[in-house]
Amino acid sequence: MSTLIRTSGLLAALFSCASSVRATDYLIVGGGTAGLTLANRLTEDPSVSVLVLEAGGDGLGNVNISDIALIGAAWGTQVDWQFPIEPFPNPPGRNIGIVPRGKVLGGSSAINGDVWSRGDVRDYAQWQGLGNPSWGSDAVLNASFKSEHFFAPPSNWSIDYISSDHGDTGPLPTSFDAPAPPIHEALIESVVNYGGVRSPDNEGGHVDGISWATNARLPSNATRATSATGYYFPYSYRKNFQVKLFSQATRIIWNSTSQGNAVAAGVEYVDQQGNTQVANATTVVLAGGVWGSPPILERSGVGNKTLLTSLGINSVVDLPGVGENMQEQPVGVMEFVLNSSLPLGVLTPFLLNLESLQQTFAKDGDINTLNSLFVKPDNMPEALFQTYQALYQEQAAWFEGNINFATSGTQPTVLAWFAGLGRPLSRGTCHITSTNGTALPAVQYNWLTAEFDLYAMAVACQRIQNFASTPPLSNWIAGRLAPPANVTTIEEFEAFILETAFQGNHPIGTAAMMPQADGGVVDNNLKVYGTSNVFVVDASVMPIPTSSHPQANVYAIAERAAELFKASGHV
Ligand SMILES: *[C@@H]1O[C@H](CO)[C@@H](O)[C@H](O)[C@H]1NC(C)=O
Ligand SMILES: *[C@@H]1O[C@H](CO)[C@@H](O)[C@H](O)[C@H]1NC(C)=O
Ligand SMILES: *[C@@H]1O[C@H](CO)[C@@H](O)[C@H](O)[C@H]1NC(C)=O
Ligand SMILES: *[C@@H]1O[C@H](CO)[C@@H](O)[C@H](O)[C@H]1NC(C)=O
Ligand SMILES: *[C@@H]1O[C@H](CO)[C@@H](O)[C@H](O)[C@H]1NC(C)=O
Ligand SMILES: *[C@@H]1O[C@H](CO)[C@@H](O)[C@H](O)[C@H]1NC(C)=O
Ligand SMILES: *[C@@H]1O[C@H](CO)[C@@H](O)[C@H](O)[C@H]1NC(C)=O
Ligand SMILES: *[C@@H]1O[C@H](CO)[C@@H](O)[C@H](O)[C@H]1NC(C)=O
Ligand SMILES: *[C@@H]1O[C@H](CO)[C@@H](O)[C@H](O)[C@H]1NC(C)=O
Ligand SMILES: *[C@@H]1O[C@H](CO)[C@@H](O)[C@H](O)[C@H]1NC(C)=O
Repeated sequence: MSTLIRTSGLLAALFSCASSVRATDYLIVGGGTAGLTLANRLTEDPSVSVLVLEAGGDGLGNVNISDIALIGAAWGTQVDWQFPIEPFPNPPGRNIGIVPRGKVLGGSSAINGDVWSRGDVRDYAQWQGLGNPSWGSDAVLNASFKSEHFFAPPSNWSIDYISSDHGDTGPLPTSFDAPAPPIHEALIESVVNYGGVRSPDNEGGHVDGISWATNARLPSNATRATSATGYYFPYSYRKNFQVKLFSQATRIIWNSTSQGNAVAAGVEYVDQQGNTQVANATTVVLAGGVWGSPPILERSGVGNKTLLTSLGINSVVDLPGVGENMQEQPVGVMEFVLNSSLPLGVLTPFLLNLESLQQTFAKDGDINTLNSLFVKPDNMPEALFQTYQALYQEQAAWFEGNINFATSGTQPTVLAWFAGLGRPLSRGTCHITSTNGTALPAVQYNWLTAEFDLYAMAVACQRIQNFASTPPLSNWIAGRLAPPANVTTIEEFEAFILETAFQGNHPIGTAAMMPQADGGVVDNNLKVYGTSNVFVVDASVMPIPTSSHPQANVYAIAERAAELFKASGHV
């Protein structure tokens, strides 16, 4: 009797406990660069519960992730989604094959090239100008500083920097690798001799010339910093910070789907055993990345109604911007043979941030001719084109900011100099091709389809040739390897770029933070239009890229999203 009473008392206690347990506040799809950053900031409040669904594993013990010397080794392994890219229309049939994205805690921060560089205040002013009052340069830079813990280089390393252009209390260590070898000083001097500017530091929102870029790594032992090492592992003790590994989200489960105000109940996912499960939450945040988040929206009925209907998916929100507006920074590589054999590896870790050589470019008159080259790419919606045209005057003046240069040695005797297009006008797409919840989408780059983009990259190649022919760098250079020395005119460089450019692995923009009428997918608060509780927080929301690598921006977007969620008391 007494046993029965005790048992029923226990059951009653369990039941009352169960019925008082609140649903998860935030369900975050993707434990990547943005997902773990956001989860960390939200769970600073112990009363807020977060569940992160990560398709991959934790990556612990995988040296391809932690050891900086093994950059690239993780590509094509189990921690990489391995997205196939559709063959290019131009040149016909060109196929760059499989492109890496991180499928592991940390996401692409676990497998990327590790460069940490911020955009310019004018980049962020443009984000703000596209209908996003909360995303001005002050707000974004402040959010960005929160993520960084800068380690200054030893004073005898001959590297310029400004401490106040960096954060010093964040979870991510940033640092320079090693002292500057002599050829880098020669390179900087040649740029200056050609009319460029030596910038003391480009990381404080002023990308004004050539300066050193930092990397996201611990200086003591060159260990990579990821969103997992910075924002999750040290905080995994938090009871309100739950992570489910090997759980791939497939679609949103709706509680109500009235047009204009769809309410999500949770997310369907496939667990490690291959079983379909549902996790419910008050708020759903997609942080699956540029090619991960749009497919989930589309499978859930949020996207271009015509496209979804043709696949047999019921339209919940007709939002044609989903999976459109994709931008990638293409890179062309010029190679020069040096006069001497430098020790292998010395050059590799160095990235010089030549992202805005204003004076250099201003010296040549051909920038003025670029206005006439701004033609509307076929796949750009007219409304968005209008927005861009308004921005174009500034974009043209910014031409120099569009061209990123970095150097790295590919062999002991070869100097490889990259011409990267920072802010392309061409637009690609990413769409599902079936209702299969785990199938990868079709990704179409369409890069270099805007005439401006191809021309800008050809001009960049000519400029690189000019820097390389200017002393003191010219004294080190014995000849040009690629393209062959007989490639000299703009037309010849354009052909070279079309044939050889490769992807920067910096795709953005497939769920752009812009007005809905311009093809936007999320609003100023990163909420998906037409829904009441679905958000996107990752590189998809960047409407246009910045004059930098994307990594620091993705952390900044997540930091800023956490501020906005906290301020709005969204849960
Ligand atoms: C590390 O990368 C190499 C080269 O891609 C691969 O063979 C190896 O399996 C990877 N190791 C792990 C733990 O994934
Ligand atoms: C950014 O930080 C500075 C310095 O802390 C502060 O004065 C400013 O108000 C902040 N701006 C925004 C928009 O948060
Ligand atoms: C800088 O100083 C340290 C300590 O004196 C020394 O070990 C190191 O070799 C120096 N590095 C360079 C690049 O001069
Ligand atoms: C690098 O140093 C950090 C901090 O001291 C340490 O936690 C980590 O285990 C080290 N990594 C390796 C590979 O030695
Ligand atoms: C999740 O939400 C759906 C839709 O409202 C509901 O049918 C289901 O019972 C919920 N599951 C749990 C475990 O609460
Ligand atoms: C679904 O909507 C009903 C009615 O508004 C509400 O009672 C319920 O809590 C909602 N469920 C979820 C999982 O949001
Ligand atoms: C929607 O998709 C259809 C079919 O793929 C396409 O023809 C149309 O241009 C798309 N609409 C927009 C606004 O992108
Ligand atoms: C769905 O896609 C996955 C991944 O490509 C594939 O393994 C699976 O066979 C597909 N399922 C169906 C029913 O086609
Ligand atoms: C290569 O050129 C540089 C710059 O003139 C010079 O300092 C260096 O000694 C040269 N190396 C050889 C092996 O000639
Ligand atoms: C450059 O020279 C190569 C080899 O002689 C030749 O195949 C190529 O057509 C030439 N390119 C140009 C642009 O003249």
